[in-house]
Amino acid sequence: MSVLDKITQLQEEALERIGKADSLDSLNDIQIAYLGRKGLITSVLKSLKDLPNDQRKEVGASANKARAALDNLIKEKKENFSGGKKLSAFDPTLPGTQTQSGVVHIITQVIEDICNTFHGMGFEIARGPNVETDYYNFEALNFPPDHPARDMQDTMFVEHDRLLRTHTTPVQSRFLETHKPPIKIITPGICFRNEAISTRSHVAFHQVDGFVVDEGVTMADMKGAILAFCKAFFSEDVKLKFRPSFFPFTEPSAEVDISCFLCSGKGCRVCKYAGWLEILGCGMIDPNVLEKAGIDSERYTGYAFGMGVERPAMLKYKINDIRLFFNNDTRFLRQFK
Ligand code: DAH
Repeated sequence: MSVLDKITQLQEEALERIGKADSLDSLNDIQIAYLGRKGLITSVLKSLKDLPNDQRKEVGASANKARAALDNLIKEKKENFSGGKKLSAFDPTLPGTQTQSGVVHIITQVIEDICNTFHGMGFEIARGPNVETDYYNFEALNFPPDHPARDMQDTMFVEHDRLLRTHTTPVQSRFLETHKPPIKIITPGICFRNEAISTRSHVAFHQVDGFVVDEGVTMADMKGAILAFCKAFFSEDVKLKFRPSFFPFTEPSAEVDISCFLCSGKGCRVCKYAGWLEILGCGMIDPNVLEKAGIDSERYTGYAFGMGVERPAMLKYKINDIRLFFNNDTRFLRQFK
């Protein structure tokens, strides 16, 4: 058999083996067997010097061609086994691969926004458990057992005496028990009530409570803090209306309406043409609550407030259904990048 025939035979044999190769390892073996230092094609090239002059050129060209062809094919096939990743040098002209990044949930963003605003006013953050005892959720907050005020909060009980907290105000009862004034705290978190799920209410929702206890704290301080927050969070020209209200844990108590920041109080669909939106409850901390926590109510006074997170978020971002926050539809969530 002539050397040229031998080359052709080797090439065909190698091609067949490459075609059947089913792993990177088997391709490496073929590469070594034919193109390695002691490989079959390499040996042909090494033996060129023993050939007569008139054959050397032709055989050399043929062996080199076979080597290049096999080398290319092996490289190409290796790419299939390495998940299409190019094994050759980095090519900056290729299009980049886009990575998908997540989005912080809009409710988390709004909570961060609220917390940052209060943080700038000197408030620190405290948190408490989602499963609460009846004591911290109600009794420490001056709800006597069987008091009708408990009806306002449709409570889900886990077992006797343990419940899913219906508001974030129990963090106040816990914190007051373990800290001494001066105290200036906000308490973001999730709450639960047994409500019918609709466009405006859900069984799970978020609240942020705030409370300040020190000597000489007055209702004027409370109004100033709430106004400063609303200006920073909603809009600089917002107006507030304090309506008398009732909460067992504050006395006196009030509910706060803000002038609708969408229509500046002129009346629109969002504020139901009232010009005002209810956003929070507040008041001076009832002396009973301070005393239960071991704080001298003759010496110290305090104010407290509590607001939902979903309502302001819906107003600020014009979202018309509270359920969207909980459905985890990424098409909705991705809008708030
Ligand atoms: N916890 C009340 C609720 O869920 C809201 C509230 C009102 C919180 C007045 C307060 C407050 O801290 O002082 O309806």
